[in-house]
Amino acid sequence: MVYQVILPAAGMGKRMGAGKNKLFLELQGIPVFIHTLRTFNSDNQCQEVIMSVHPDDQVEMNHLIKKYQIEKKVTFVSGGTERQHSVYNGLKNITVDGIVLVHDAARPFIQKDLIAELVESAENFGAAVVAVPVKDTIKKVANGMVIETVERSSLWAVQTPQAFRIPLLYKAHQHAEKMSFLGTDDASLVEFLGEKVAIVKGDYNNIKLTTPEDLSFANAILSGLI
Ligand code: CTP
Ligand code: MG
Repeated sequence: MVYQVILPAAGMGKRMGAGKNKLFLELQGIPVFIHTLRTFNSDNQCQEVIMSVHPDDQVEMNHLIKKYQIEKKVTFVSGGTERQHSVYNGLKNITVDGIVLVHDAARPFIQKDLIAELVESAENFGAAVVAVPVKDTIKKVANGMVIETVERSSLWAVQTPQAFRIPLLYKAHQHAEKMSFLGTDDASLVEFLGEKVAIVKGDYNNIKLTTPEDLSFANAILSGLI
């Protein structure tokens, strides 16, 4: 089943502390966002990539896309101040119907079979996200004291990609903007509309590169150690 993908890539990478957008950092000699793009480049079901980028990064990203011979159509749109705005800018650029995936450019280990499963789930349910069961015990805390232990069996850590029927995600972003609702992921905007979101069990290795220790973990994954 074919899909379009929006890759939010317009962050500052502040928590990584690299002094530049973390997406330019290299894993085994290849920039993080190129690892991510390679998966979509080689997926026949992916029709187009829409990348939300910061205007300052556009020239360098374009150069790297050419250097690493990404042949899929990649369209740049301007990023916004928040991730949600970056995704919405990408979405406004889509004129076809069907399924859209939103995937953090900072998650380079997404696998094609999981994408296919997710797209099918979004086709069936309208919205679907990749998630993994939480392994740790989670407690609710206030002022340094435990309030309660949350029942773990119902807790899932949500990742990207997240897939949606295009009109549903559009409606969700429009509604969020109108209500000044800022969510940390796209599915929460769909939930805010009162619509259902399905879960597809994902992969613990589909990490987001956020802080410097994530780079060691990423290199271990690439070396086949994990
Ligand atoms: N992103 C974006 N536009 C923003 C903020 C984030 O497109 N205004 C993108 C990032 O480039 C990244 C993804 O959203 O691919 C997930 O965001 P995050 O991991 O938070 O990355 P950064 O915002 O770059 O990092 P930080 O929050 O540490 O500054
Ligand atoms: Mg951020």
